[in-house]
Amino acid sequence: EFAASLEKAAAGAELTRKDIINLLAAAPGAEEEALYRLADSVRARVAGDEVHLRGVIEFSNYCRRRCYYCGLRADNVNLQRYRLMPEDIVAAARRGAELGYGTIVLQSGEDPWYTGPVLAGIIREIKKLGVAVTLCVGERTRDEYALWREAGADRYLLKHETANAALYNRLHPGMSWQERLQCLQWLRELGYQVGSGNIIGLPGQTLEDLADDLILLRELDVEMAGLGPFIPHPATPLGGEPAGSLDLTYRVVATARLVIPYAHLPATTAVGTLAPNGRQLALQRGANVIMPNLTPTRYRADYQIYPNKICINEGPEDCRHCLEGMVRALGRRLGRGPGHTLKPLRVQ
Ligand code: SAM
Ligand code: SF4
Ligand code: FES
Repeated sequence: EFAASLEKAAAGAELTRKDIINLLAAAPGAEEEALYRLADSVRARVAGDEVHLRGVIEFSNYCRRRCYYCGLRADNVNLQRYRLMPEDIVAAARRGAELGYGTIVLQSGEDPWYTGPVLAGIIREIKKLGVAVTLCVGERTRDEYALWREAGADRYLLKHETANAALYNRLHPGMSWQERLQCLQWLRELGYQVGSGNIIGLPGQTLEDLADDLILLRELDVEMAGLGPFIPHPATPLGGEPAGSLDLTYRVVATARLVIPYAHLPATTAVGTLAPNGRQLALQRGANVIMPNLTPTRYRADYQIYPNKICINEGPEDCRHCLEGMVRALGRRLGRGPGHTLKPLRVQ
């Protein structure tokens, strides 16, 4: 079954849910190796050897939400909360531009302190640096999304987290899967390049759920997909659950390269946290992007969405040099320019 589905993928045929499940279930050894080889060759064909670096500024760890997995959830009182002032965010972005990053990602908890106009002002300043801007600040109103798009934001990252609506609703008190999809649709309508994605290895999640994640990403026609393992945080309701499997994560990333070939796929910080060579392996199994940390070092330890996050004691330059070495050692090269969508221009 695996072999037939892999052959379909190699021929570029549209994969069914059953095919996707077969690929995700690749057995350790020859099957996994074959899946990874095909994913790497598709990556080379559609994305080339460039690895794009997106500098991430984690500008606030205040959050009004209570996601069951996340260390930033509002209920976690054992966390020193911080907020970067607009001029400090712009300064961090300037440092990123100087380090050669073509994209600046602004990420935070859901923090209403940054009103629509406040964040729009920050975006306008950062756009003057000549970089692409990606927002990753959660669910907001359509008007706010529109304001930020007008201010120059290019992309928006909002993971759907899981395509299993019941599981989503269980893990996100006060939120709903329908509202999540509504936000993603607004972002699409407003002309953002849209990134979504899911967590791998959530308690109760099945291989079928993960296949549905990839099918949803295909339906959303995403420009980017963040696919990372679940890592339990002790100060959360899921603190006692096991972490997601790294091997399963690689199979999801590789299969994603076959299901949504034109999507940018990051080698996530979470795989780097679970294994020292985690990001290198992800880059050899379908991924083509890395998101180095640009947050000023003194705040990094407090943006612990999960424990043991990498790069907590490093500074922006350290991560830049570390990644340049990593990319070179893999025989790849650093991406130039903003690294916009890989999708071929479609004749309407
Ligand atoms: N607050 C915004 C949001 O939720 O979209 C952006 C920041 S949030 C920290 C970014 C991502 O972190 C989430 O989409 C979620 O997938 C991921 N995340 C949070 N806690 C995690 C955990 N314990 N393990 C793996 N991923 C986690
Ligand atoms: Fe807040 Fe995002 Fe963490 Fe949920 S995942 S608690 S919205 S920071
Ligand atoms: Fe931060 Fe390697 S990416 S030290």
